[in-house]
Amino acid sequence: MKNITKEFPGVKANDNVNFTLNKGEIRVLLGENGAGKTTLMNILYGLYEPTSGEIYINGEKVEIKNPTVAISHGIGMVHQHFMLVPPFTIAENIILGSEPTRKNGIKLDMKKAIEDVKEISNKYGLAVDPNAKIQDISVGMQQRVEILKALYKGADILILDEPTAVLTPQEIDELAIILKKLTQKGKSVILITHKLKEIMGMSDKVTIIRRGKLIDTVDTDKTTSDELAELMVGRKVNLVVDKKEMKTGDTVLEINKLSAVDQRGVVKVKGISFEVKAGEIFAIAGVDGNGQTELVEVLTGLRKAKGGNVSLNNKDITNTKTKKIIEAGVGHIPEDRHKRGLVLDFSLSENMILGNHYEAPFSKNGLLNYNEINKHAVELIGEFDVRTPNQHVKAKSLSGGNQQKVIIARELYRDPDLLIAAQPTRGLDVGAIEFVHKRIVEQRNKGKAVLLVSLELDEVLALADRIGVIYDGNIVGIVNAKDATEKELGVMMAGGKK
Ligand SMILES: Nc1ncnc2c1ncn2[C@@H]1O[C@H](COP(=O)(O)OP(=O)(O)O)[C@@H](O)[C@H]1O
Ligand SMILES: [Mg+2]
Repeated sequence: MKNITKEFPGVKANDNVNFTLNKGEIRVLLGENGAGKTTLMNILYGLYEPTSGEIYINGEKVEIKNPTVAISHGIGMVHQHFMLVPPFTIAENIILGSEPTRKNGIKLDMKKAIEDVKEISNKYGLAVDPNAKIQDISVGMQQRVEILKALYKGADILILDEPTAVLTPQEIDELAIILKKLTQKGKSVILITHKLKEIMGMSDKVTIIRRGKLIDTVDTDKTTSDELAELMVGRKVNLVVDKKEMKTGDTVLEINKLSAVDQRGVVKVKGISFEVKAGEIFAIAGVDGNGQTELVEVLTGLRKAKGGNVSLNNKDITNTKTKKIIEAGVGHIPEDRHKRGLVLDFSLSENMILGNHYEAPFSKNGLLNYNEINKHAVELIGEFDVRTPNQHVKAKSLSGGNQQKVIIARELYRDPDLLIAAQPTRGLDVGAIEFVHKRIVEQRNKGKAVLLVSLELDEVLALADRIGVIYDGNIVGIVNAKDATEKELGVMMAGGKK
């Protein structure tokens, strides 16, 4: 790809990028959220037309007007969000769009389709059951189907956009083996990611892009995570969180024998008690699905408690409306930022006043005051370093990291006594993670209480003062973070008592 530039209104997503891929290599395309990785690959796959620049395949200049042309040049792409049809079988999904037909040219030859699928799945060591339905298989298996689909269409260059975001550690290991095998058979792979951790074992070279510009390409075995992080963010990144000693103050949140059920009526929170004091970060560690979601929902008024009570600054707030809970001094960074954190079709300005929208200066005599709302947004965009063309764009057009900054800006603007941060860095890149961690620690250092709920043990250990481990709806142990070890926490997370 030569001198590729792609402009969107207000954003230069790719700025004169030169990118060369060799046969048989696994190349990582690394960059923060919004750096321009997906755009560059969408251009290669014919989804976007570049504003300027040229593409050569095997030395020959090509015009890739659409994905059909890309496929004819042997380029295949597996998108971040899979594009499979859930009620169809694996075989049906793989052949969709290039179905083999019987002699008359009309009837679908399903038998041949299944044979074809078996053949490529054997050839590349990607075992699947062609007759299984997509809706019944794991996410890791669905990704395998997407890869097979690209190979079925004849891909020689396989582009994978953030393939590990949805996988478990075991599935990531399997993917690494699959990719290696593909390159041994002469395929070339481009792997888009913003995660440093898994790159090292998986790739030959890493190309870093930052704010649309190509920064460098380095050999994986001659670099380090620290160096890559710095190239990616453009400055030294502090992967270790600075925390000063704090004396804790009064109890801000007190939870007593709290219980709650999920939407199917299954008891998910089974009589939990703990407290969070001013000036401390109390983290709930645990494997996903052990009651964390329901606990946070009860605390924020999104779900009714079945029993027990919750008090904030010594006032009972059990089963109080969300609006009242916010007014009582609770800020909430929700685990699902699209569903609970933002109104995706609203502008940034509007999103930044949600929950305060009925108050002065944003509202006057029942009417929104857009001058004030915009002014407020411009200030927060600056203070929280939200990367956006302006405050008028819709929340949905921002990258995940920038969306999260909008939520954090809004929640911290209210200066809450208690900040509840649920999976606050899920899906974010290092730069954004560092930012979020700093803000959470700042809140504690100001003498506020923080309840952190995280599936990432690294995050819990880096931020927390005390850690409560949740398992099957119970807090099975509470430990001081200073004395906690990953191993000990891991045992509790699997149900072992402290
Ligand atoms: N279809 C689009 N319209 C407008 N802006 C876009 C579009 N796609 C991407 N962008 C913008 O281009 C920049 C690069 O985005 P993207 O390529 O998705 O980044 P990455 O994949 O590295 O996270 C971002 O600022 C993003 O908001
Ligand atoms: Mg992307």
